[in-house]
Amino acid sequence: MSTNSPAPTDPGSSPGQALARSASLDELYRLLTPMNVGPGWNKPTPSLWDEPRKTFVPAHWRYDQAHAALEAAGRLINTELAERRNLILYNPVPGNEYATTRTLLAAYQMILPGEQARSHRHSPNALRLILDAEPGAYTIVDGVKLPMDAGDVLLTPNWSWHGHGNEGRAPAFWIDFLDTPLIHALEPMFFEPHPAGYEPVARTAEVSPMRFAWKDTLPRLDEAAPDATGPYGTQIELGSPAMRTISLHMMRLTPGVPTAAYRTTANNIYAVVQGSGTTTIDGESFTWSRGDVVAAPAWRPHSHRASADAVLLRVSDEALLRPLDLLRQELL
Ligand SMILES: [Fe+2]
Repeated sequence: MSTNSPAPTDPGSSPGQALARSASLDELYRLLTPMNVGPGWNKPTPSLWDEPRKTFVPAHWRYDQAHAALEAAGRLINTELAERRNLILYNPVPGNEYATTRTLLAAYQMILPGEQARSHRHSPNALRLILDAEPGAYTIVDGVKLPMDAGDVLLTPNWSWHGHGNEGRAPAFWIDFLDTPLIHALEPMFFEPHPAGYEPVARTAEVSPMRFAWKDTLPRLDEAAPDATGPYGTQIELGSPAMRTISLHMMRLTPGVPTAAYRTTANNIYAVVQGSGTTTIDGESFTWSRGDVVAAPAWRPHSHRASADAVLLRVSDEALLRPLDLLRQELL
């Protein structure tokens, strides 16, 4: 409460007496304002509404454009100056210059042959989908050096050390996903650079709970029960869930067969692992190809139609919403 007190209406009266003697609502409001108190029956904006507001908008980012921009950035800035050479995919709503959806961020990143991206850790959960990499691209998670091959998904959960390097002959490109917008809203942000700069490698591994290798994902999709017309196509989950706040699913779409339109309180970001097609979100259609990113923010009805055998990585905040009983989904 403010230390300011309402001015007494006449000499000798206490603030409480002045409040109690308010002769009109207008006078009461005037006395409440300096106390930082608002009348709940006369709110300037409502605090409850019928269903989720569509605050964030559907959006699409193209890999060919990001690829070209990152090639330029590779000439213009090195990993000493840019700890992460990445391009933030921010949702084009007024006042937003960071979040892709309410809780999630997506960013394209590139590392040149011979480069290293310094190790650090932070409270936001992070993961990456590898788009293009030759053998030799790697990430180090808590001292374990893991390969990064195209189609792989690598996790760096809350407070795990992670850095990246490229001992291959070609630049490595990937898409990062983080729950930083959620952490911004909740406030528990912590960040720490690794004291050694680059975390030493304790061991090398191909198999790790931090890595969903494409060579394992593809057979799982082949074996999954086909579902051409459901909202997710033929879907498998990576992890259960992959992280406390982020769910990961791989969806295979049948060419020419639209998925069922649905809406969900979850925020979904789709990244195109392979193939091409169109996603229609709340009446807007986005035609995508490999490496593109499409954001379907909460409560935006959407469906997909592949034009060629397509696999999408679906990154969502279902893992966050479900245990809080805040996940609602409706087929339309
Ligand atoms: Fe990081």
